[in-house]
Amino acid sequence: MTAPLLSIRNLHLKMSSFDGRAHVLNGINLTVNRGEIWGLVGESGCGKSLTGLSISRLQPTPPAHYVAGEILLEGQDLLKLSQAQMQRLRGKRIGMIFQDPTTNLNPAFRIGEQLVDVALAAAEHDAGVLDCPPNAGRRARRLAARKLAGDMLARVGIPNAQARLDSYPHQFSGGMRQRVLIAMALIGRPDLLIADEPTTALDVSVQAQILELIKNSVNDFDMGVVLITHNLGVVAQTCSHVAVMYAGNIVESGPVAAVIGSPVHPYTRALMSAIPTRETKRGMLRGLAGSVPNLIVPPPGCRFAPRCQFALPACSAAMPAAVPVGDDHAAACIRVAEMETLVHG
Ligand SMILES: Nc1ncnc2c1ncn2[C@@H]1O[C@H](COP(=O)(O)OP(=O)(O)O)[C@@H](O)[C@H]1O
Ligand SMILES: [Mg+2]
Repeated sequence: MTAPLLSIRNLHLKMSSFDGRAHVLNGINLTVNRGEIWGLVGESGCGKSLTGLSISRLQPTPPAHYVAGEILLEGQDLLKLSQAQMQRLRGKRIGMIFQDPTTNLNPAFRIGEQLVDVALAAAEHDAGVLDCPPNAGRRARRLAARKLAGDMLARVGIPNAQARLDSYPHQFSGGMRQRVLIAMALIGRPDLLIADEPTTALDVSVQAQILELIKNSVNDFDMGVVLITHNLGVVAQTCSHVAVMYAGNIVESGPVAAVIGSPVHPYTRALMSAIPTRETKRGMLRGLAGSVPNLIVPPPGCRFAPRCQFALPACSAAMPAAVPVGDDHAAACIRVAEMETLVHG
């Protein structure tokens, strides 16, 4: 049996801050195969971004401390690689897109130059990225990279792509810059794409186009995707699978239809009944008191227990294990068996 594309096992991460060390990832388990789009969803501060940054190893250590666990990319533990080795994987095997396109594109360079640089770097490690012989000269490689850059811009829906290579980022709208970043993330033909809130800054119609683009790319490039979002609507629209995070734990995971269609964990249920309001944005759920706990002194046992209407004393005694509740569907709650009765009386 071949190893899964991505397998995160029992990942524990602490972050140092002025106030102390926060235990922000508390035993994350996640497996992503090619062809799957995993939504990582949860309130702000639950550890979604740090999970993505851990996979790409873009979070400096310190303040991050990897306390335990493995992040296996086709069986190779990324946590054991040096930054130089990681740098060779980024762009080539792991592509990344972040929320704010202005921080990712260099305003001083033309779009085309930035894409060409990424393509040439990726081609150093996989000559197949460029459509030219491996022993081609510098000039031929640059030309092939420029051709590829134009093709990628066209693929992400930039009109008149070849000519637009000579534009600067400020000449593009926010939606177009985000398309450029997707082109940049895909140009090295990654196996795994990590997208952290890639559409949050965009208006709704552009958001839908970008999500569609990510979906199509999964098939075209045979990759796996981790899509980080606080928006369950985005998950329903885009993802094949979803992992619901609360305070550094995955509390429920499985195929989207199962998790959204029949949520089991009280936190998933609460998340689904919450409509986005100004409060939701600040990390509070409508109809659910309290907020994400302080992770320097996290609540004992189930971290959701202090906010859970169904909590028992036993919930604070030990961290609940994820138990199967359906095909590939699991929830980390000691009351899963009773949940139907608890909710419907
Ligand atoms: N650089 C940092 N130093 C200290 N704590 C951090 C840092 N980055 C994030 N954290 C803490 O880690 C937790 C998870 O953050 P993050 O992964 O950004 O959450 P999310 O993406 O789900 O909103 C938060 O409580 C946050 O305060
Ligand atoms: Mg985040």
